[in-house]
Amino acid sequence: MRVLQNQNSGELVRFHFCAYQLKYPYFLLFFNSKIVHKYAARYSQNYMKLSHPALTDLMQRAYSFEKAAAFAYQGHAGAVKDREEKRAIKQIETDEWNHRKEVLALMNQYDVPISKNYEVRAHIIGKVISAGCYVIGWFMPFYFAGRLESGNVCEYFRMKQYFNSLGITEHDQLLYDMGIKEKEHEVYFLEGIRNNKLLPLFQKWFGWGDDESFNNINLDHKYPVEESGVYCQANQASDDIKALNLKTYTAEDQLAK
Ligand SMILES: [Fe+2]
Ligand SMILES: [Fe+2]
Repeated sequence: MRVLQNQNSGELVRFHFCAYQLKYPYFLLFFNSKIVHKYAARYSQNYMKLSHPALTDLMQRAYSFEKAAAFAYQGHAGAVKDREEKRAIKQIETDEWNHRKEVLALMNQYDVPISKNYEVRAHIIGKVISAGCYVIGWFMPFYFAGRLESGNVCEYFRMKQYFNSLGITEHDQLLYDMGIKEKEHEVYFLEGIRNNKLLPLFQKWFGWGDDESFNNINLDHKYPVEESGVYCQANQASDDIKALNLKTYTAEDQLAK
């Protein structure tokens, strides 16, 4: 409350706090506040809520596990001796942080919340793998990084398929680029161990290795974004993926590209 004196009558006038605010236009500051700008920006830029639980979950998962991957690569880069390998793995870590940023921007656009559950799990998994890189030698971090990347590739192509099923195509190029980047990561790790004598054994045990992948992308015969619907169509069942691999790695690639 504020008390002022009337200059004609000498009478004291009491202003209630709110009335005082209305007399002086400080309340207008609210309309210039960060909160108002944030929501105005959000509603003005194509804001819509997604009714696609699988897509929402996939975005939340991808966002959190990009962090796990980035943490793991911190340990991986720290544990390798070769300077060129160190530099390449640090670049891959940067790619993963960039992916996380891109996925967050998508989540914000569609009002998808960050999953605390995935965030905690990814944090722990990433830190454990990161520490493990210092004790399990050189081969295993390369092998399991490649195997993990192989599975990550289809996350972004599936995300694209889900958006497309809702009639949304504006993220096609972004998701295609992120999927292809994950494939480049997979290939980098595979090339590092392709001639290692342990690879056939690990491939037999863990189902990933030379010409055995969890996705059907072949960087030597890439399909453009408009035709990339052929990628990752199968529901991750390994037999289906193998059939798709055969189809897109060999016959169709040689004919089409
Ligand atoms: Fe990534
Ligand atoms: Fe990656």
